[in-house]
Amino acid sequence: MSAQKGANGMDHPLDERREMARTLNAPGAKPDPSLRISRRTFLHKSLVTTGVTAGAATYGWWPLMNLVDLAWGQTAFRFAWLSDTHLYPKTVNTRFVEKAVRAVTEIKAMNPPADFLIFGGDLAQLGDPVELDLGAEILKEITIKKVFIPGEHDWYLDMGAKWNGLFGQSPWSFDHKGVRFVGLDTVSRAADFWTAKKMTPKDRMGHMSVLDGTLGGAWAGVGLDQLQWLQSNLANWPKNRPVVVFSHNPLYEYYPPWNFWVRDWREVQEVLKPYTNVTNIHGHVHQVLYNEIGTMRSMGMLATSWPWPYAPEGVPVLTKCHLRADPGDHFDGVGWSQLTMSAANKMETEYMMWRKKDHIVADTPWDSGCGDNANQPLTPRIADREWTYPGGHK
Ligand SMILES: [Fe+2]
Ligand SMILES: [Fe+2]
Repeated sequence: MSAQKGANGMDHPLDERREMARTLNAPGAKPDPSLRISRRTFLHKSLVTTGVTAGAATYGWWPLMNLVDLAWGQTAFRFAWLSDTHLYPKTVNTRFVEKAVRAVTEIKAMNPPADFLIFGGDLAQLGDPVELDLGAEILKEITIKKVFIPGEHDWYLDMGAKWNGLFGQSPWSFDHKGVRFVGLDTVSRAADFWTAKKMTPKDRMGHMSVLDGTLGGAWAGVGLDQLQWLQSNLANWPKNRPVVVFSHNPLYEYYPPWNFWVRDWREVQEVLKPYTNVTNIHGHVHQVLYNEIGTMRSMGMLATSWPWPYAPEGVPVLTKCHLRADPGDHFDGVGWSQLTMSAANKMETEYMMWRKKDHIVADTPWDSGCGDNANQPLTPRIADREWTYPGGHK
C-alpha cells in the first residue's frame, strides 16, 4: 500500500480515500430524509501526542468517517470511549496496567477536553476486587463525567456486586446536547450453568473469561426487562433525533460462538426500528468493526489489552479490517477512541490506535485475517446453526 501526503498535511493511503456512500432505504426501514451517510477511510497523524512511548508517533485512524447528518445536534462535542483493559493485579503483571494508564493519560490530554468518558466493560480480567479497585483507581485520574457499562470479565466472580458498588447499575440514559445516550448491560444474562455443577465463583468466572467457552453458551443478551425499559425510555424521544446506544457486545449477529452478538438482537432491532438515527457503540470484539442494519450503525471499539482476531465468518461487508498486530509489540493494534459530534452535525469516529506502522488497514484480506471466509453478508446462519436447534447442530 502506498501512502501520500494529503492537502491537509496528513499521511494517508491513497486507495483508502474511497467514497462508500450508502443510502439506507430498505423497505420498512427508511431513514429520516435528513439522514445522509457517506464514509471515507484515511489515515492521519494524531494531534494527541503524549510522549508516553518515546520515539513512537501516536496514530489515530478514522477508518470510517461517518458523515451523518444529525439535524438535531446542537453543539459540537466530543466524548471518549475506553474499554477492555482486562487488568490483572499488579502482582501478576503490569502490562495491561501500563496500557490503561497510557489511554487515561491521552484522554486527559484531549484539548478541548471530552465532554464525558464511557467505559465500555471488561475493566478486570477475572472480576477480582483487586483488579476492579485497581481500574477504579486508574480511572479516577479522569475527572470529567464518567459513565460505565459492565463486561463479562467484570461480572461473573460475584455476579456484579463489586462492579455495581463501584460504578453503579445499568441500564441508564442521559441527554446531552440534543443526543440521547443509553447504556445497556448485555453481559449478566448467562443461563445458570454453574449451580448444577457445583462450581465455585472462580470456576464460573474462569469459564466466562474465555472467548469460546462452551459452558457459558450464548450468554450475551439484553433481556426482556431491559427491552421494555429501552422502549419506554425512548417513548418520549422524537423518532428522528439521534440516539447513541452503548453496549459491551454488538447489538447484531456477528459471530455467536464468541458472543460477538446479543442473542435477542432481533428484538433489540424491533425496539430501535422507529428511530431513524441510531448509533450502537460497543466493545468486546477488540477490533475495528462497522456494520449497518436498517437505520442503526454499529461501531466496534478497540481494546487497550489485545486485539482479537476477526471471526472466521460473519465479518460485516462494510468493515474495513485492520492489520494483524505485531506479536512482539503489545502496544500494537490496541488503543481507545474519540467520538465527535461536530458543529456541522456530523459524527466522526476516530480510533486512537497505537501503531508504529504507517498504515492501519489491510489492503489484502490475509493481512488482517478478514479473509476468504469472512467479510460475508450477514445472515442468521451462524446463530441458527449453533444455537437455535434444540437437538444440536443441524
Ligand atoms: Fe474484552
Ligand atoms: Fe467482553
